[in-house]
Amino acid sequence: MIEKYSFGQPIDTGAVVLTISQSAQPFHLMQLTKSDKGIALSCQMNAEDVVYGLGEQVRGINKRGFTYISHATDDPFHLENKHSLYGAHNFLILSRKNGGSFGIFVDDPARVVFDVGETDMDRLSITAGCDCAIYTIEGGSLKEIVKQFRELVGTSYIAPKWAFGYQQSRWGYACAEDIREVVKGYHDKGIPLDAVYMDIDYMENFKDFTVDAEKFPDFEQFVQEMRAQGIHLVPIIDAGVKIEEGYSIYEEGVQNHYFCKDEDGEDFTGAVWPGKSHFPDFLNAKARAWFGGKYKLLMDQGIDGFWNDMNEPAIFYSEKNLKQVMEEVAAMKDENLDLHLFYHMKGLVDGLSNNEDDYRRIWHNMDGVKVCHDQVHNLYGYNMTKAAAEAFDQIAPEKRTLLFSRSSYIGMHRYGGIWTGDNASWWSHLLLSIQQMPSLNMCGILYTGSDIGGFGADATEDLLMRWLEFGIFTPLMRNHAAAGTREQEAYRFAQTKDFRNIIRMRYSLLPYIYSEFMKCALKNEMYFRPLAFDYPQDAHAPQVEDQLMVGDSMMIAPVYRQNATGRYVYLPQEMLMVRMRSPEDRSFQRMEQGHHYVDVALNEVIIFIKKGHMIPLAAVDENVRSTADLDDVQYEWIGFAEPTAEYVLYEDDGISKQYTPQSEWKKVVRTKEQLAL
Ligand code: GLC
Repeated sequence: MIEKYSFGQPIDTGAVVLTISQSAQPFHLMQLTKSDKGIALSCQMNAEDVVYGLGEQVRGINKRGFTYISHATDDPFHLENKHSLYGAHNFLILSRKNGGSFGIFVDDPARVVFDVGETDMDRLSITAGCDCAIYTIEGGSLKEIVKQFRELVGTSYIAPKWAFGYQQSRWGYACAEDIREVVKGYHDKGIPLDAVYMDIDYMENFKDFTVDAEKFPDFEQFVQEMRAQGIHLVPIIDAGVKIEEGYSIYEEGVQNHYFCKDEDGEDFTGAVWPGKSHFPDFLNAKARAWFGGKYKLLMDQGIDGFWNDMNEPAIFYSEKNLKQVMEEVAAMKDENLDLHLFYHMKGLVDGLSNNEDDYRRIWHNMDGVKVCHDQVHNLYGYNMTKAAAEAFDQIAPEKRTLLFSRSSYIGMHRYGGIWTGDNASWWSHLLLSIQQMPSLNMCGILYTGSDIGGFGADATEDLLMRWLEFGIFTPLMRNHAAAGTREQEAYRFAQTKDFRNIIRMRYSLLPYIYSEFMKCALKNEMYFRPLAFDYPQDAHAPQVEDQLMVGDSMMIAPVYRQNATGRYVYLPQEMLMVRMRSPEDRSFQRMEQGHHYVDVALNEVIIFIKKGHMIPLAAVDENVRSTADLDDVQYEWIGFAEPTAEYVLYEDDGISKQYTPQSEWKKVVRTKEQLAL
């Protein structure tokens, strides 16, 4: 049951799609205190209670023991002490062992603080602003609470099927030749690939919707050349628009007042990649329609996928703040910079980026209403992505277009996916990405994945391999790295055969991955789930932080530690372990419920299939260079027949928006003898 409680005059964030009227009963699930600063909610947590959710955040699946702040932030250091990452996903479930579990969604686009037992280990405290709407969901299992929430916020974005193939990116592919080389690198080694990303390097001086003609002579032809090889090119679009006379996007934005204003009513100036920039007012419907329409410039040249970036918005510095800081630093020129003065100076310079005072200087015109940015900060990236998605509905209404964003808020999940931003090539970030997935899925974000191999720092061969072994299960499977780091395309390493086999496993598993993704999207369910969601009676399941249920039939237990040749795995029920060294080289072992130590060599993937379940596998011979080459008629089935195994297969054309209705999903049943070995 969903209850709604409104406080003050909430801003319409568009997160919720159902009409729910104010609850007739007083707010009772938590203690409520109102003050002129906002509202505070608080409740006791018992020792065994678990808190799930909050989407893109640091730390584990169980969020207890830390404070999380919803405040979209461009911070590339995803460390344990960080309170905010790029998204704001204000939904959590307090799972109570003895009944009374509930979900709560705080629909407030400004800063919201979730103190999940940090100040007081036994208390959950939430603080939000004076104007917000709170939705509570009670009754039923964890899965049912999530389903109700997801119905409340609307169905998730669905990517085209090709975007479930393997994708390669790197900040630094400087020209068409670089991209050709990457594609050749993959094809020469027989590794399938569906997309190559174009980072900021493709633009003319970092100007949105331009393509540098020197680096990409005849871009349209290049897009076709790549498509002929099965490759989709996916350009980045940044939030900041370069200030430059003669640049049409800048000029149109200024003329039509499509940019955010500063406190004096001038177009707000902050710097990003191109230096001084203006920021489109994505909270204004006209500005959204205008900016969205610009994607057509690239779509007309054959582009059918985009990633939206720097949309927290990231601001290196604002013109005004920079001037003040420069003056203050200049005044220190002849000083003896002692401890205090040195750190003061350093703080001034470090504090230039993503500065709170700047966010308070930015103003939106929300369709006639002037709103200060800090009140709606978390909606900016969401509305940039909405701008693109709404435009796609006009430009290519019949087709799915790939779209994902760095910053997000619940509601954006209807328009695009997200990637989890600038992680690093650290083993701890492989684990973090495993743990983020179910939390994101709870909040409706299904098309997601992390930068495989890690973005910052140098990836080692074993890290990339282990990360790919997890990445073959994430809907967005993209290897991406920062400029200046070690090149980490899979074909560059010595163990090419193993990399090829792991990526081929993705293509082999694709019928399952896609079918499960689609069923979850259409039924408002989670594709990745913590074990406790499927095994609510299992006392140990809430303890498991490094295994996930993937779709309806499978559990995974990735290896995420360097030099580990195996790991402990907990089986909540009897399952069939499938050990795969390639799509063809697999062995099976039935395993009892309970704890096991399992050897997992560096080049192996293990999956666990539930009793009575099976999964479809596609053949991936040397002719399969991308998803387009996959045989989607004939599958091999592997599984755990007892005495039969079943699977509900979702299929469609992978590109149109004519999704197959549930009545036409195919139930397939096999006996043990009919299953492949
Ligand atoms: C940001 C993005 C990253 C991208 C870089 C350059 O850091 O998060 O993915 O490569 O900008 O555009």
